[in-house]
Amino acid sequence: MKQRLLFARAYEEDALPRIPKDARPQFHLTPCVGWMNDPNGFSYYQGEYHLFYQYNPYKTEWDDMHWGHAVSPDLLHWRYLPAALAPDEWYDADGCWSGSAIELPDGKQLLIYTGIRKLSHNSEEALQVQCLALGDGVNYEKLEQNPVISGDSLPDGLSPFNFRDPKIWREKDGSYRCIVGTCDQEQKGRLLLYRSDDALSWRFESVFIENDGRFGLMWECPDFFEMDGRKLLLVSPQFMLPEGFEYHNGNGTVCLIGDTDDSGRHFAYTQHQSVDYGIDFYAAQTILTPDGRRVMIGWLQNWDACQNNRKEQIWYGQMTLPREIFLRNGRLCQRPLRELEQYRRNRVEYKNITVEDETVLYGIEGRCVELFITVRPKDPEKLFQKFSLRFAQNEKYRSSLSFRPHERIVKIDRKCSGSRRAIIHQRRCLVPNKDGEISMRVILDRNSIEAFLNDGDQVMSAVIMTEQAAKGISFHAIGEVEIDVVKYELCLEEE
Ligand code: FRU
Repeated sequence: MKQRLLFARAYEEDALPRIPKDARPQFHLTPCVGWMNDPNGFSYYQGEYHLFYQYNPYKTEWDDMHWGHAVSPDLLHWRYLPAALAPDEWYDADGCWSGSAIELPDGKQLLIYTGIRKLSHNSEEALQVQCLALGDGVNYEKLEQNPVISGDSLPDGLSPFNFRDPKIWREKDGSYRCIVGTCDQEQKGRLLLYRSDDALSWRFESVFIENDGRFGLMWECPDFFEMDGRKLLLVSPQFMLPEGFEYHNGNGTVCLIGDTDDSGRHFAYTQHQSVDYGIDFYAAQTILTPDGRRVMIGWLQNWDACQNNRKEQIWYGQMTLPREIFLRNGRLCQRPLRELEQYRRNRVEYKNITVEDETVLYGIEGRCVELFITVRPKDPEKLFQKFSLRFAQNEKYRSSLSFRPHERIVKIDRKCSGSRRAIIHQRRCLVPNKDGEISMRVILDRNSIEAFLNDGDQVMSAVIMTEQAAKGISFHAIGEVEIDVVKYELCLEEE
């Protein structure tokens, strides 16, 4: 094993015991130590779920990408394995960037990732190539024939400096495909399709889909799968322009629902939507669980808000909750992974509570909780102005999720969460609910909120770095609102 990986593994071993368990979220995966971004190589292998991640062990900032590694029996209890990849070859000397994983027929696990190499030490530009590593679930050997897909394979006009994030899958006939993101000279994204018979040597097939300029510029981190007879492409465009309430500025994750043509070489979409309407969500990957569920995990962070970093903390970044995804009325919908339900404790329930001004309900507080809130006008003839749920609250701090039925807007707001930077603190989402009725299922896990609106029709996620002492929850209304509330504590740790 090469020096850089050995060093990273020794560093992890030393750092891990120094991070108290309760300094991390309970069930959202955080980096072993240092910095985390995209989920990588999300897969089920030899009876466990594997999640790798973009990883800089040495600092809480993005740099020098490695692949971190964790495994879980149930997608909720994670155990760190030693770092899987370090940038230690000529073709990936400046980083092992995002990619995916698959099990080969001989039982080995294959990682496919993007290797980065700067043209010179001070150069801004780096060549991006696709590389393979074979392993047993813990240790991985980079292949001698790396890089297996390089810039030479690119059609004219596409950039070898933006050529990354391979997603691999196996076709029914046993051959393999992968799609890789790239862009043209105007920075407009493309996904390229490659094909292989043995998953080791690859050839260019086609431009799988072109970004018509509608969704940002370069397309990062594609994922592609079938669901209910449709094909779904998740892709994370950079530098989006906003479009109504559907797409926000900057980087976001888009779901394109469509089909491939008869050759399977080209994809076209008929519907599109945002995957998450909150502040922090990017670069999602999915797997099919052994019992047939499609589960998605994204990076619970966004590139424009990464300076919200606490200096005293030696880890930074987290993944989203694993979410079961499904199609309902042509939309991609999401629900929290059902295994989480086993860890509910201390149910508290209130029915037909009138909220005027501010309401605090005995037993409803906490930072690791699940809340079901059903909201309706007290008098069906009189629509209220606004309902809000406040959480992570004390005298100094609070965050909120609010609903204005006249505008049909749900807003997430973390400006009073303790952040001292002018990052994005609010985001709005347009919901179909006209008559003032809405259901919210909210999951808090110490440093995050994920709100599933209308049974997962729309989801809003955000990181909340508020101190844990701020655990108040309250309900507010302008006008008269009636609510039902169910609350559980979520306890995954042994008591
Ligand atoms: C997306 C991304 C990927 C790249 C990785 C580098 O967040 O920019 O395109 O592979 O992060 O860490």
